Amino acid sequence: MTSRILVTGGTGTLGRHVVPRLRDAGTAVRVLSRHARETADGVDYVTGDLLKDEGIQAAVNGAGIIVHLAGGRKGDDEATRNLVRAAARAGAQHVVYISVVGADRIPVVSGADRAMFGYFGFKLAAEQIIADSGLPWTTLRATQFHDLSLTVAEQMTKLPVIPVPAGVRFQPVDTGEVAARLVELTLGSPAGLVPDIAGPEVHSMADLLREYLRARGARRLLVPVRLPGQAARAVRAGANLAPDRAVGHRTWEGFLADRVLSDA
Ligand SMILES: NC(=O)c1ccc[n+]([C@@H]2O[C@H](COP(=O)([O-])OP(=O)(O)OC[C@H]3O[C@@H](n4cnc5c(N)ncnc54)[C@H](OP(=O)(O)O)[C@@H]3O)[C@@H](O)[C@H]2O)c1
Repeated sequence: MTSRILVTGGTGTLGRHVVPRLRDAGTAVRVLSRHARETADGVDYVTGDLLKDEGIQAAVNGAGIIVHLAGGRKGDDEATRNLVRAAARAGAQHVVYISVVGADRIPVVSGADRAMFGYFGFKLAAEQIIADSGLPWTTLRATQFHDLSLTVAEQMTKLPVIPVPAGVRFQPVDTGEVAARLVELTLGSPAGLVPDIAGPEVHSMADLLREYLRARGARRLLVPVRLPGQAARAVRAGANLAPDRAVGHRTWEGFLADRVLSDA
């Protein structure tokens, strides 16, 4: 059996797929969460906050492997710096990190870039903090998860007329498939930056929304808008896509059939 594994973000969308897979692989799993939880299904929970730098040392002590999935729209650099500092003190043997396709290709320069695409800058900074930590590491960049595309579609289609960023495409991937790959990497040796994982199809944002509306039996007017800034230009050029790494199997249509049509 490998040593105890700490999963940050183990309660999140991705983490909820990763944790049971690690348990099924026979590993001892500890999850860091900002909210106190009882031990359940053989998983221990430790309370802490990566941004406030609270409870991290207790979480990492005794965990040889750290799977770092916690994240938000802002501050992944600071959270990662705090985690890595504690992990180095604890002598961790492997840090596995989930980043995003395009982190290295989407320039976050102006206020407009930061407002719309600042997330990519935080992910790149967090990647660099891990690579420079002196700890053995593995980083996997994924495209947007189907779950996030669904959340975005649900929010946007509340409007009767929907402004849709022109020329923006996505290559959504199944969260469970990303989780399976992360578990494989976690149980393997530190590998540095590994090949991206991306969904099977590239769609324009308008097509993703139309497919969702079709599944819901709804109609909306979609109005193209042009986003300003260098980051948006890079995204229109496909910086957030990895067509040569379309290794995911579950399509957006297949995901919607399971998630939306089954709720209808
Ligand atoms: N969603 C996507 O399309 C996508 C694509 C590529 C990469 N990623 C990356 O995948 C990772 C997981 O994404 P997700 O969609 O699963 O996120 P999510 O559902 O929003 O979950 C976020 C997780 O982070 C934890 N967290 C947030 N702030 C924290 C803090 N200050 N201290 C400790 N824990 C904190 C939360 O735990 P508690 O609430 O229990 O504290 C929760 O488990 C992120 O790093 C994200 O950047 C996401």
